Formats: sequence, C-alpha cells, structure tokens
Amino acid sequence: MDKFVIEGGTPLHGSIETNGSKNSALPALAAVLLTEDTVELARVPRVRDIKTMQRLLVDIGSIVDDSGDVLRAQTKEIVSPEAPYELVKTMRASSLVLGPLVARSGRARVSMPGGCAIGARPIDLHLMGLEQLGATIKQEYGYIEAVAPEGLRGARIRFDRITVTGTEDLVMAATLAKGETVLENAAREPEVTDLCNLLISMGAKIEGAGTSTIHIQGVDRLHGTPAPHEIIPDRIEAGTYLIAGAITGGDLRVTHCVPQHVQSLIEKMQQAGARIEQEGNSTLRVTAPDKLRSIDITTEEFPGFATDLQAQYLALMTQAEGISIITETIFENRFMHAQELIRMGANIRLNGRQAMVAGTMQLTGAGVIASDLRASASLVLAALVAKGETVIDRVYHIDRGYERIEEKLAAVGAHIRRVE
Ligand code: EPU
Repeated sequence: MDKFVIEGGTPLHGSIETNGSKNSALPALAAVLLTEDTVELARVPRVRDIKTMQRLLVDIGSIVDDSGDVLRAQTKEIVSPEAPYELVKTMRASSLVLGPLVARSGRARVSMPGGCAIGARPIDLHLMGLEQLGATIKQEYGYIEAVAPEGLRGARIRFDRITVTGTEDLVMAATLAKGETVLENAAREPEVTDLCNLLISMGAKIEGAGTSTIHIQGVDRLHGTPAPHEIIPDRIEAGTYLIAGAITGGDLRVTHCVPQHVQSLIEKMQQAGARIEQEGNSTLRVTAPDKLRSIDITTEEFPGFATDLQAQYLALMTQAEGISIITETIFENRFMHAQELIRMGANIRLNGRQAMVAGTMQLTGAGVIASDLRASASLVLAALVAKGETVIDRVYHIDRGYERIEEKLAAVGAHIRRVE
C-alpha cells in the first residue's frame, strides 16, 4: 500500500491546474448507457473512481477508449445490466447506473451499498423515484433489482431531502421515460447541471437544471454527443489547493477553475483573513497573512459550504487564532480526520455533528491513517504545515479523487513523496 511522506513547513508558490470534476465525470460515464451511439467526454480526470466506473461500464457491455485526451464510450447493447458487489463496495457512485439501465433495457440489478466511512448513505430516494417512474423494485440476496418491462413513464417526484446522485440517477432515467417528469427539491450542484448539459447535447429535453425544480420531457432515444462534452473543473480539488496555499502561508494560483463554484469557501477564507483574488475567468490567487482568524462553517447543499471541503477547512482552522465551530449537516460521521489531526497536535473537541477547533496550534509530524477521500486531503494539508515528517498511510483513498496530488504539490514547492 502506498504512503505519502511529507516534510512540512514550506510555503507553496506557483500555479496548480485544476482537473475535470470527478463527481461530474462519474454520472457522465453512467449516461453513456442511455444510447447505442458514441459519447465523447473531454477532461475526464484520471483518478481511481473513474477507472472503477469504466470497469463497470465494460462489464455492462460498453466499449471504452480512454487512451487519448477525449474518452470515447459506446454501448451498442446492454450485455449484463448489473453492478456487482465487488465494485459497489469500493465506489458507491456505482448506483448511478441504476436509472440509465432501467430506462434503456427495462432491468437493472445493483448491489445494495453497505455502510461507509462517512455515514449510512442509503439509496432509498433513488428507489422511491424509480418506483414513481413505474419500475418495480425488489431487494434480495444483497441486491436491488429494478424492472420496468413496459418502459418508464413520467411522474412528479419530490425528494424528502436533497440528494446529488439521486437527482442525477432520476434525471437520466426520466430522459427515456414516456411523458413529462418533474423533480422537486432537486440538487442544484454544478455537477447536476453539467450532467443535464451533456444529456441535452445527446437529445434530451431538460429544463431547470441548477434550480430545485427540473422538468424532463421524455424522448424515444438519445444519440451520441455531436462534439466532445467538456467536464467542468473539479471545485473540490480547486478548493483543496486554495486551502493549501493559505495554510502554508504561500502565494498560489489555482488555474482552470470556476470561481463561482467555490464562492462559499472563498467567502469564509476571506473572513478568516486570506486574500483571494480572481484573475481572468478561471484563475484564483490566494495569499495568506501571518495570522488567520477562526471562522465557523456549517456544511450545506450547493451553493452552501460543501461537505467535501469540510475536512480540509478544519485543517486550516487549526492554524487560525481563536475557536471555530465546524458543523456537518450532510453526513452523520464525517469527522474521522479529526482524530488523526489530534494526533498531529491539533486541539479539536467533537460533539456529535460539531467539531470545536482551537488554534493556533503548532502541528507536528506523525504517522496517520487516511480514512476516506476528503479526510486524506485534510491530512495532507495539515502535514504541509506541520513541523517534521508526516507519514500518511492508505493513500489509495486520495487516489480515488485527486489526480497526481503529490506531483502537483511538489511542483509548487511541497516536500512530498510517495513511497510503496
Ligand atoms: N441520502 C438518503 N437517501 C438517499 C440518498 C441520500 O438518505 O437515497 C442522504 C445521504 O445519506 C446523505 C445525504 O442524503 O446524508 C446527501 O447524500 P447525497 O445523495 O447528496 O450524496 P451522494 O450523491 O451519495 C455526492 C458526492 C459526494 C458528496 C455528496 C454531498 C458523487 C459521486 N458523490 O454523494 O462526494 O459528499 O454528494 O455533496 O457525486 C466525495 O467526492 O468525496 C464525495 C463523498
């Protein structure tokens, strides 16, 4: 298993380019199953979750070519409408194939996701929506089977709570359903909008993406993409690097990002005293004063503060003067990084869904274990500012969602290397 060895204390200087978004590319790949034509995607990040999704597509019957800059995938026929346990257990986003498979072939069999490092993460809302679209759902032997031999039909569906992949799953299913579907209390994340734009380019009729109400007029078939669809920049990766610049007291440009997508983070970082300036349309420059102030956050759905940046922001707050309260409202168990940060000298008290962080604490290098993707990113950030050497174990978690993070950070001055 690979580890990162990080020697902290060097301010980062230079520029880091943001990749295409993992959480946009995952549903875009699932959308490939909706048509027998070729779908072309540009700026698909080369991270492990994307590889896992490609493997799943190939098992289902797609031919995927990701040898060049543009990924091409075609699914002439659904050979096996199934997402097996081996894949679902490593990547919960596998459930994104549920909607496309039922819509295209009238049948899907997807392993039930189990528990997860950050919370229970059920998919009951995906299933509720598919049932309303006319599918019959059966759960047995650890699998969920959804069938709709006569095809799906449009419906008005209201989500009890906002779900990102649930919204994406049902938008995809509804594109091929008969008649109109209305999704209420839908997720407004930029990744949902990106998926809708891809589907529209494939012939889907969708209105309201990016708002809480999405209207989908079903069509008989979808076609391939007329030109490669460019995946939007990864806002979580961009946010992680902004925090890297601030936590090390550096001067960093984060390029190829969409500043509006990280607005809630920018506002909090500015209140904390970091300087963040926009240069042109897609570059953010971050510089930090000697002292940061503690500023509270509460995670929320977009456009609120992203839960996927909570762990990284918590690492930043260990370097801010005063006490900050970090409240996690999306997942029930997303503070695994706190225990490891405490081992590095952070002063954090946990109380249910809240973490109280007292700074400024001089962190010191230690052996720590990455527990999930974003928790690992927060450990890397803490290690960049810690005194001495930190060894982070199980960095396969970080490889799920960050492309070449150690190379990118090393290129701007970090002392970080990967060892086997
Ligand atoms: N929920 C339910 N029932 C459902 C679906 C969700 O109760 O059927 C609950 C979840 O348990 C959670 C909340 O609703 O408490 C929100 O979950 P959501 O469905 O929005 O999460 P997701 O779609 O599974 C995506 C991202 C996550 C990100 C969340 C929240 C992808 C592939 N994953 O997950 O990304 O944290 O939205 O923004 O898009 C990551 O990249 O590290 C990551 C975990």
